[in-house]
Amino acid sequence: MSRKTPGDLRSARWFAPDDLRSFGHRSRMMQLGYSEQDFRDKPVIGVLNTWSELNTCHSHFRERVQDVKRGVAQAGGFAVEMPSLSVDESFTKPTSMLYRNMLAMETEEMIRSHPLDGVVLMGGCDKTTPGLVMGALSAGVPMIYLPAGPMLRGNYAGKYLGSGSDAWKYWDERRAGAISDAEWQGIQGGIARSAGTCMTMGTASTMTAIADAMGLTLPGASSIPAVDANHQRMSADCGRRIVEMVWEDLTPDQIVTAAAVRNAAIVAMATGCSTNAVVHLIAMARRAGVPLTLDDLDALGRVTPLIANVRPAGSTYLMEDFYYAGGLRALMKQLEDRLDGTALTVTGKTMSENLQGAQVYNDDVIRPLSNPVYHEGSLAVLRGNLCPDGAVIKPAACDPRFHVHQGPALVFDSYPEMKAAIDDETLDVTPDHVLVLRNAGPQGGPGFPEWGMLPIPKALIKQGHRDMLRLSDARMSGTSYGACVLHVAPESWIGGPLALLKTGDIVRLDLPNRRLDMLVDEAELAQRRAAWVAPAPRFERGYGYMFSRHVTQADQGCDFDFLQSDFGRSAGEPDIY
Ligand code: FES
Repeated sequence: MSRKTPGDLRSARWFAPDDLRSFGHRSRMMQLGYSEQDFRDKPVIGVLNTWSELNTCHSHFRERVQDVKRGVAQAGGFAVEMPSLSVDESFTKPTSMLYRNMLAMETEEMIRSHPLDGVVLMGGCDKTTPGLVMGALSAGVPMIYLPAGPMLRGNYAGKYLGSGSDAWKYWDERRAGAISDAEWQGIQGGIARSAGTCMTMGTASTMTAIADAMGLTLPGASSIPAVDANHQRMSADCGRRIVEMVWEDLTPDQIVTAAAVRNAAIVAMATGCSTNAVVHLIAMARRAGVPLTLDDLDALGRVTPLIANVRPAGSTYLMEDFYYAGGLRALMKQLEDRLDGTALTVTGKTMSENLQGAQVYNDDVIRPLSNPVYHEGSLAVLRGNLCPDGAVIKPAACDPRFHVHQGPALVFDSYPEMKAAIDDETLDVTPDHVLVLRNAGPQGGPGFPEWGMLPIPKALIKQGHRDMLRLSDARMSGTSYGACVLHVAPESWIGGPLALLKTGDIVRLDLPNRRLDMLVDEAELAQRRAAWVAPAPRFERGYGYMFSRHVTQADQGCDFDFLQSDFGRSAGEPDIY
C-alpha cells in the first residue's frame, strides 16, 4: 500500500502554498492559538459531532470528542471538531426522517468545502448513522464511524425495561386500566437511565451494527455501551486510526463494496433488525454505487436465521446483554461462513482478520445457527396489487396467526382521524379487521413518520387483544412490534394503490408467498383510479418544498434524486483563490 506524503494531503491545498489565500488560512488557525507546527504537514481530521442538548442519546459526545482528539494528536494528526446537524429521534417533529437527507447534504458539503483529510463521524441515534455515512460516502475522504453505543438496560421495580418496546407494551396496559399512575411514573423514570442510544435492537442498534458489518467502524465498536470505559478507549482508537487511514489513503469506496453491503445485509437479518434498515441500507449502498434492491434483501432474509435474541424480535435480552455475550464480532463469527471475509475494513485488514478470536460467551443471547430465535431473517418483502413496488413486514415480531390472514379493511386517511376512532370504545371492529392508515409515506407524512405500529383499538384492548394486522405506507420504530405491514410503495399520497382501498374491502396477507393484495376486481379499481384526486402539496416553501419534489419512494431508499451517485458529475474539489 503506497503512503501519502505531507504534500499529497488534501489540506495542503489550503495551508501549503505561499500565497495570500493560504496566508489567510494559516493566520486564522493561529487566531485559535495554534502554531504552524500544530497543523502544517499533518492530516487534518474533522470530527463531525452530532451532539445537542436535545439529542439525549448523544449526551456523552462532548466528552467523547476529547478522546477522539487525544487519539488524533497522539498519532500525529490535527483534529478539528465540527458540529453537525443533530437529528434526534425523540424531539424532532413531524419525524427525524424528514431531516436524514439534510444531514447527509450537510456532511458531504462540510467535508468538501473544508481542509479535511479524513473524518470521524460521531453518530448513533437513528438517522444520524445513515445521514453521516451517506454524506461521507459521497464526499469520499477517509472516514471512520464512531457509534454512540447503546444506553444501559432500563430498570423498574427489579424488571428490565426495553426502549420503545416497553413503552408501547405498558401504554397498552395503561389503556386497559391495568397500570397505576405511580407505576406509570416509575416506568417513565426507569426506561432511559444513561447516555446512549435505545438499547433494544431498534433502528439505532441496527444501523450502527450495519456500519460495523460494512467495515466502517472499529471491529465490534457498535456493541459497546455508551457509558462503558471501553467506549472512551474505542473513541481514542478511532482518532489514532483515522490518521493512519489518511496516510494509507484508505477511502470509503475501497470499503463499501458490493461484498461489504451484502455482509451488512446478512448481519442485519441475523440481528432481528429494524424495518428501517431496508430504507437506509438501500440509500447508503446506492451512495457507494451498489445497486441494492428490496428483492436482494428479501432473498437474504429467506436464508439468514435470526440469531440475536435481543428484543423486540428476541424474547428477553437487551443490547447490554448482547455486548457481554460477545457483541457484534461474536455474532459475525457465527455467520462467518456466509460472509465475504475478504471485505476490507477501516482497520486496513479484512473482515476475516478482524473476526479472529471472536467468541460467544452466552449462547442464549447470541444463538448458534442450529438454534435460532427464528428460522428466517428479520424482514420480508411483500408484493401484490396493494404494493406493486413493495412493502415490508417483520415476521418474527408478529403473532404467527397473522402470517396468513384476510379480513375487512378499516381505512383512515390521517392520524387524527384514526386516533379518534381507535379511542372510541363503540368502534365497530373485530380482531380480524385490517387497520389501515394512509397518507403517511415519504411525501404524505410528510417525511415518512414512524406511525406504522397503529394502536390497537381500545375496544379490542379491553377484550385482551394485543395484536392485529395493520397496514400503512408509514415506517415504524425499530423498537416496535406486531403484525404491521409498512413502507407500502408507491405511497397513497402520490396515487399508489393504497389510495384506492375502501373500508370493507377484503385485504389478504400471505407471508409465506410474500403477497399482499386487496380482493377488489380490476374494473372496480380502474373506476376508483379514474376518480382519485391528488391532494394539495404539503409545502409551498422551504426545505419541505425541496424534500417533497426530490425524495424517492421507500423502495428506492428515500434519498433525494439529485444526491444519488448516478445523478450527474461529482462537484469535485473546490476552487481556492
Ligand atoms: Fe435516540 Fe432511540 S431515541 S436511539
